[in-house]
Amino acid sequence: MAEIVKVSNMAGITAEALRRVRAALDNGQQEARLFSLALSGGSTPGPFHEGLAVESNIDWSRFVVLWGDERAVPPNHADSNYRAAHQQLLSKVAPMAVWRMAGEASDLSKAAKNYEACIRSLPGAKISMAILGMGDDGHTASLFPGEAAVTDRLVAETPEPYPGKHRRLTLTDAGLDACEEVLILVSGENKADRLAEVLAGGDLPLARILANRRNKPTTVIVDGPAAKSL
Ligand code: 6PG
Repeated sequence: MAEIVKVSNMAGITAEALRRVRAALDNGQQEARLFSLALSGGSTPGPFHEGLAVESNIDWSRFVVLWGDERAVPPNHADSNYRAAHQQLLSKVAPMAVWRMAGEASDLSKAAKNYEACIRSLPGAKISMAILGMGDDGHTASLFPGEAAVTDRLVAETPEPYPGKHRRLTLTDAGLDACEEVLILVSGENKADRLAEVLAGGDLPLARILANRRNKPTTVIVDGPAAKSL
């Protein structure tokens, strides 16, 4: 099962996530120079992005930055995950490469295939680390409750999860399985009951991902309010 790390607040989530990025960078130093990091959307990773931007001794020339999911909008749209990460992090650092998901594509299925090819070009066809969040409905990346698991592709297009909430591109069950390490950042009391359900193995996307990854480095970093029902 995933490791659960409880911290008191959002600052604690950020500090723990940054510590784990540094540890992964140190571990990988001998074997692979390249470090591929998949970012997520939502509000929780904002402070992490801002913290990573000012971390000292980070060799950004080792980084390939990717995304775990993206909304079907252009990169300058207010709902774009790329746009948020650019403002919080990527405008301040110089990674070797930034591979955004083409949310603006007219053919999302083709965009998903292209993104899969990018992932397959990474060493071992694996993302070094993915940062995920959890919605209060139990979704992660853009894998929403009620949608079947996708295991035949690493990246897929998905329908609007709720009216007006944009179609998406997302790493699939198989895509999240093909990450060396996954960190799930969960903050806030509104997530507490759902997180308890996920960790009890409920029929929810995040529960499925944690079960698939039970033998792979996977950490849920949770703050006090979100841990209330654990
Ligand atoms: C997105 C996501 C999504 C997010 C959760 C949690 O693009 O919306 O990647 O899976 O991580 O919805 O969002 P919050 O951090 O805002 O609670």
